[in-house]
Amino acid sequence: MTIPEESLDPPSWTELRALGHRMVEDMFDWLDGLRDGPVWQPMPDAVRERFGGPAPELGAGPHAAYADFRELVLPYVTGNAHPRFWGWVCGNGTGLSMLAEMLAAGVNSSVDGFDDAGTQVEMQVIDWCKEMVGFRPEASGLLLSGCSVANFVGLAVARNAVPGIKEHGVPGGLTVYGSTDTHSSVRRAVQLLGLGTEALRVVPTGPGGGVDVAALDAAIAADAAAGLRPVAVVGTAGTVNTGAIDDLTGLADVAARHGVWFHVDGAFGACAALSPRLRPLVAGLERADSLAFDLHKWMYFPYEAGVALVRSDAAHREAFRYAAAYMAPAAGGLAAGRGRQFTEYGPQLSREFRALKIWMGIKEHGVAAFRRLIEQNVDQARYLAGLVEASAELELLAPVPLNVVCLRYRGAVPADRLNALNRALLVRLQESGVAVPSHTELDGRYAIRVAITNHRSRREDFDLLVRTVSALGGELAPPVVTT
Ligand SMILES: Cc1ncc(COP(=O)(O)O)c(C=O)c1O
Repeated sequence: MTIPEESLDPPSWTELRALGHRMVEDMFDWLDGLRDGPVWQPMPDAVRERFGGPAPELGAGPHAAYADFRELVLPYVTGNAHPRFWGWVCGNGTGLSMLAEMLAAGVNSSVDGFDDAGTQVEMQVIDWCKEMVGFRPEASGLLLSGCSVANFVGLAVARNAVPGIKEHGVPGGLTVYGSTDTHSSVRRAVQLLGLGTEALRVVPTGPGGGVDVAALDAAIAADAAAGLRPVAVVGTAGTVNTGAIDDLTGLADVAARHGVWFHVDGAFGACAALSPRLRPLVAGLERADSLAFDLHKWMYFPYEAGVALVRSDAAHREAFRYAAAYMAPAAGGLAAGRGRQFTEYGPQLSREFRALKIWMGIKEHGVAAFRRLIEQNVDQARYLAGLVEASAELELLAPVPLNVVCLRYRGAVPADRLNALNRALLVRLQESGVAVPSHTELDGRYAIRVAITNHRSRREDFDLLVRTVSALGGELAPPVVTT
């Protein structure tokens, strides 16, 4: 008697193969037509309701599942693939990397550090990352979901360098230093590392938006004199609000003088190091003990692609390593340990094959193309800033050192109504489908924030943005009362 057994594979691949071809065609059509569609559109309630209900007991088949994607998902995605998406800090993705994601999911490797190609691909991508930002070849690194987790990893290495922490837990009195503009993920990391959010000493920024290095130096000295234990200085290469860059050389000197770890959050700004023209802006980055940045922001790769680099391979490994018999390298075979055991360098054991899309994308385009695009985005930010400055209705709210432009509609609107007006304006702008910037607040002023990490944007897109913001501002502005 044969016992019936099943798998998740189709009875024949022919039908799924045809559907796969259609999906590829559809996605290329979608990418090809992006510019002509809205950047984003809100999901109607009737569609939202379709997301209720329990998991289906019986399958409806691949065609039905794909039809749901076409109807319920694709029209209502975030929109960051679009040429006029400039919200938060999002990249677009690329065509070949989309296909590479399919290949990675197809082979479905967990990249743990076995004697396999996935490990070699990730090690090469890490080596390329080191080259790109000027880290030495002997530094270590690994790919992670994003810069939040990479910040966590860098600071975990800094914290675990304190003797006895791994065995005995976190003693009180450890402190970390950053600026008022340090990203919230650093605060979260400090808290998750058991230091408590009060341990993050926040120092004001100076006129250029970067941290006041002398004040940070003094804060460390005062804490040390009071018996606390400063463990890390966090510099930012490109703040999320305005793209301001800390004086990283100054911070590296301060950290060295006090014998503390120097971590740099370079989420998007680290990529400026790729350009000889922009590299001076982030000078000092290469002196970091650890650096966190993203390849899904200003390198335009599909989510998720964060990178943590650590100058000392030994410190990095020591922070996360735990010997386990079932993971010990073998004398031969798949577990021969010919590559890096990634699980010894971060919190994950199972790890997706995220390196493939980057490896193939860099091979496809070459580093020079990314360098040109990063410079193009900086030039576009300056172009937009120029348009805003030349406009009678708009106002620039912060300097533009890199690729972030903060602006608002000013017109003849009374100062106390500007925040409400610009808040309403941004909602209208996003709902119009014309463009998606995001928002922030600078010294109490609501800002429309345009972060340009977009390889599809053209100057005409910024012309349209300025025209639309001016027109919407005019519609929303209270009528000028003449007596
Ligand atoms: C300066 C900075 N640091 C950290 C992050 C967090 O990065 P991720 O969203 O990849 O976790 C961001 C995100 O925008 C950022 O701008």
